[in-house]
Amino acid sequence: MYTHKFILCVAFSLLSPVLTDEDFYQVRACCTFKGSHFEETEYILTSIFNKNLMMEYNSTRGNWTGFTAYSIEAAKWWNSDPFDALTRKIERKLLCTDMLDAIQSVDNLTTIPTVKLKSLKRPNGEHTSTLVCSAYNFYPKQIRMMWMRNGKEVTTDVSHSDVMPNGDWYYQTHSYLKYIPTSAEKIACMVEHIGLSQPKFVVWDPSLPVEQRTQIVVGLCGLVIGFVIAISGIIYYITVCQRQVFTRVESPPEAGAT
Ligand SMILES: *[C@@H]1O[C@H](CO)[C@@H](O)[C@H](O)[C@H]1NC(C)=O
Ligand SMILES: *[C@@H]1O[C@H](CO)[C@@H](O)[C@H](O)[C@H]1NC(C)=O
Ligand SMILES: *[C@@H]1O[C@H](CO)[C@@H](O)[C@H](O)[C@H]1NC(C)=O
Repeated sequence: MYTHKFILCVAFSLLSPVLTDEDFYQVRACCTFKGSHFEETEYILTSIFNKNLMMEYNSTRGNWTGFTAYSIEAAKWWNSDPFDALTRKIERKLLCTDMLDAIQSVDNLTTIPTVKLKSLKRPNGEHTSTLVCSAYNFYPKQIRMMWMRNGKEVTTDVSHSDVMPNGDWYYQTHSYLKYIPTSAEKIACMVEHIGLSQPKFVVWDPSLPVEQRTQIVVGLCGLVIGFVIAISGIIYYITVCQRQVFTRVESPPEAGAT
């Protein structure tokens, strides 16, 4: 649905511990699924000796290709063998055709995550802040989230929640980053999921979200008004006190009358 190419490989290796990695033989069977529903498949079987590609079977061409003098001869031999062709057909069915249903059903259910990044309100007097990166409504469950600071992965002060079911087929997960806000840093949350053809980046914008800004404006207004009230209180207090002092000084005998 979103990924348009998927490669499934099975590898068999023969490696002699006596001869170390100098003598290394490997056979790799891969199926490439392409197309909007992975309906185009190609089966490739390769044999590798000491990291050199010797032979390759390509199901689209339907034959073997040799890459060394010896394997060119072997390819000719195998290409003329009907039993070899049948074996390749069976392998292709097992790795490509039989897997296609499973891959398609996962793909049909695949839903890419919705990613949200926000800052938790920090307690008064604390310099560190916590950013929360949340991924919602994705399927399948497998997901990778990481934090990037100026393009580099952040590994310290990071924590994750479990991947939790939404109660509705899909999953959600959260990742937390404790950090000290500085203007020079570019913080981003990166999410990898099978439904995404490339990782999703959400860059943290340090300019605050609107509701937080209004809170600060309101808070600031309250502070200013409080300050004005406090100032006027002091002035009032001073004048009233002084008047009382004056009153007391000017007319002490009348004080008991009220
Ligand atoms: C297999 O052969 C087809 C047809 O020649 C070609 O288009 C394709 O790229 C080949 N695949 C690989 C993996 O070499
Ligand atoms: C393999 O098949 C392709 C076309 O299907 C052909 O061009 C090529 O010569 C064949 N290779 C061998 C080694 O037979
Ligand atoms: C996946 O969806 C496609 C198109 O919607 C459909 O043709 C195909 O049969 C579906 N495959 C599975 C395994 O559900």
